Amino acid sequence: MTDMRSFLGRDILSLKDFERDEFFQVFSVADELRHYAEKRRNGDLLTSKTLLTAFYQPSTRTRLATEAAMHRLGGHVLGFSDAKMTRAGDFYQESIKDTVHMLEYYGDVIAMRHFQQGAPAEAAKWASVPVINCGDGWGEHPTQVLTDLYTTWKHFGTLDGLRVLCVGDMRMRTMHSILYAMSQFDMEGLVVCPPEMSLLPEFKAELDERNVMYREVESVEKCIAEADVIYMEPVVQADYTKSRDEAHDDKGQTPAAYKVTRQLLRDKAKRTSIILHSLPRMDELPPDVDATRHARYWFEAFNGVAMRMALLSLVLGAVE
Ligand code: CP
Repeated sequence: MTDMRSFLGRDILSLKDFERDEFFQVFSVADELRHYAEKRRNGDLLTSKTLLTAFYQPSTRTRLATEAAMHRLGGHVLGFSDAKMTRAGDFYQESIKDTVHMLEYYGDVIAMRHFQQGAPAEAAKWASVPVINCGDGWGEHPTQVLTDLYTTWKHFGTLDGLRVLCVGDMRMRTMHSILYAMSQFDMEGLVVCPPEMSLLPEFKAELDERNVMYREVESVEKCIAEADVIYMEPVVQADYTKSRDEAHDDKGQTPAAYKVTRQLLRDKAKRTSIILHSLPRMDELPPDVDATRHARYWFEAFNGVAMRMALLSLVLGAVE
């Protein structure tokens, strides 16, 4: 462990550059700190630090879990969740560079969500404080997938030897991050998606280069019996390149091939399998599945606070 990179001051932009030991280090810190969230008590680990949240795209979980994590550790929080009310979203269309040059004076770490892939990486070029990618366009969603793998690890006690059925839109940022992360473990991906939402050739090339083991399968029904983890995203999907995608009436419905129902779980799934969903969901995961033993997405959502406590503490140097 002595040659491990320090997290102090580090940007969390992608899971491409996460090494196996680093996943376990983050899990271990999340385990140390989770009692604050479990007991609904606030501590003082980050009392002298300020988190800045810069959210250019809607979010319920990611922003609030990150802010809750900072509050739980006694830190301060400021930021925006509607870029239209900043100069980046009005007449001036202020650049990431100029915006971040301001934000770095106001806080000690920046958590950013943006509709442009690569925007947090661009911010990290100009910020003297760590930048945490909270989802960038279709790009990546590292804090969500760290949460998902932490949830999986807490359930199975290992990540090795597991088959993960990834179902939904493979253009989605969570799918990119989880498949990159699999390069560090003895995991196999079973990838199920509509043809128009399949893994892009350049992304497949990257997975091959990283020796990620995965197979593309036609439907959930054909491979659910093999899965230890069922990892879901909608195929009735918003456009993640937009700052905001409004609801409309003709969103369509999820074809059966990409749904996980109670009946399918009863008839075909491993008894021990768990379902993760980063949420929000559409009709791919009916609410009656919540009452089955497979559902782990609420535990996953809780773990999102513990994971963000771990990441904030690590990049701010409050823990090693
Ligand atoms: N899982 C997730 O990213 O949810 P939000 O869009 O609500 O942050």
